[in-house]
Amino acid sequence: MSLSRVLSRTQLGLDAPLVQVELHVGRGLPAFTIVGLPAPVVRESRERVRAALLNSGYEFPSGRITVNLAPVELSKQGGRFDLPIALGLLIASGQLASPRRAFECYGELGLAGDLRPVSGLFLAALHAREVGHALIVPAANGAEVALSSHDAAYGAHSLREAAGWLTAHPADRPPDAAGAGAAGADAAGADAAGAGAPGDAGAVAAALPALADVAGQWQAKRALIVAAAGGHSLLMIGPPGSGKSMLAARLPGLLPPLTQAEALEVAGIASVAGWQRDAGCWNRRPFRAPHHTASANAIVGGGTLARPGEISLAHQGVLFLDELPEFDRRVLESLREPLETGLMTIARAGARLTLPAQFQLIAAMNPCPCGHLGDTGKACSCTPASIERYRQRISGPVLDRIDMRVEVPRVPVDELVQATVAAPDDPAAQVRSARERRLSASGALSARLSAPQLKACCTLSAAGDRLLRSSCQRLGLSGRGVHRLLMLGRTIADLEGSEHIEPPHLAEAITLRRP
Ligand SMILES: Nc1ncnc2c1ncn2[C@@H]1O[C@H](COP(=O)(O)OP(=O)(O)OP(=O)(O)O)[C@@H](O)[C@H]1O
Ligand SMILES: [Mg+2]
Repeated sequence: MSLSRVLSRTQLGLDAPLVQVELHVGRGLPAFTIVGLPAPVVRESRERVRAALLNSGYEFPSGRITVNLAPVELSKQGGRFDLPIALGLLIASGQLASPRRAFECYGELGLAGDLRPVSGLFLAALHAREVGHALIVPAANGAEVALSSHDAAYGAHSLREAAGWLTAHPADRPPDAAGAGAAGADAAGADAAGAGAPGDAGAVAAALPALADVAGQWQAKRALIVAAAGGHSLLMIGPPGSGKSMLAARLPGLLPPLTQAEALEVAGIASVAGWQRDAGCWNRRPFRAPHHTASANAIVGGGTLARPGEISLAHQGVLFLDELPEFDRRVLESLREPLETGLMTIARAGARLTLPAQFQLIAAMNPCPCGHLGDTGKACSCTPASIERYRQRISGPVLDRIDMRVEVPRVPVDELVQATVAAPDDPAAQVRSARERRLSASGALSARLSAPQLKACCTLSAAGDRLLRSSCQRLGLSGRGVHRLLMLGRTIADLEGSEHIEPPHLAEAITLRRP
């Protein structure tokens, strides 16, 4: 046979469309051409495949070799096509029999014929499972692929091993080869895979830090509970060392675990970004805290590979932006779209891609450049102009999208050194029941309610209505501001187990949305 066809997939945002690697060995002067919109790194595959074949003890066929990556209009990136090209060459040159069932193959080859891990395989494995294709992946990707519960995935360390899997009759495979946990994955990988299979209660993850570690800061703690219960965004403002970062790190401990469907989606995004979800934390909500010097591409996504950014990695979890005014203004402005829609659109060589980015924003900042404006312990050394400039780095529209703004003042030393901290009773349980209440009544958390949904579930008493009208005028609230206030009121009422938003709920919402 001088023609072969091996399956693989490319990666487009969160999609993994099928690619047929067609290969023909013809007569003529020796040549090796790859067509079908390959990126330069895919074209370089020729050199890796040639060396890997020879160093694995195979023959490199002489003649005119043409590789076509179909469909041609899809762009192909990365080293993942090395393995399908090499296997295609072995089949087309008669060194390997055609497989009996449909296989998808992935992996970058080293010159010695070793198989190296590639990104995005969790997503590819999910798609392959759906259509019933078997999989051959680098052993180092075994744990990630096993999370997809694919029952015919095989891990290989080398080209030779991969070729063995491709032709082995199912009956010839060792009994423990098939099944979750890519076969041949190294011991550590296979262990991780077994422990982390979705829904496996055996996986243990380290405990998350508790709210009870934080002394004082009652308002900020309450704001965190409200944020967790309703999916609201929060900005904490206070002097250095008052506990802002410490508080933010305690939000994940208040949030319920991801559902199975959410966990799959989160793992898919992580996989595309080349980051593997830790098996033990499979259903834990992501907590991403990018540094303010990170590039716009790193935070919102994009670049030549259209990789998801931090905001997509924080999907269904928390995005913590510490030192908010230090972030590039353009980065902050680009958060406006995802904060409103839960989606991020990135432009990429002629195409537009939409990635999920339904994150909960938690931000922290000092009140001024020196950090001590309004501090009881230390005088502020800033000029009014520098304070103004500092605050203006966060635009009005961005600020308007943040549901709560609370002060986190310096904690008196007495409170800090006290042996025990008085903390709210089981805050995670309060959060859980408030969320369940809202999800069963409206189908979404308060912060994600549409305007009609909001109307349906935010009925106010006459006194509540009067309070809302007077505070809107006093605070100069925007239309969005009014809606956000009602959403906050709704969450606070849910935390109290109240069906209606009563004036005290609204009053608390107003104090949490300090202008
Ligand atoms: N309220 C608090 N309760 C207990 N420990 C605290 C509290 N505030 C500060 N600390 C201690 O101080 C350390 C620094 O706090 P943290 O990093 O949260 O401050 P910050 O407000 O984020 O400061 P910065 O503005 O400089 O980033 C904490 O790791 C903790 O040890
Ligand atoms: Mg901090």
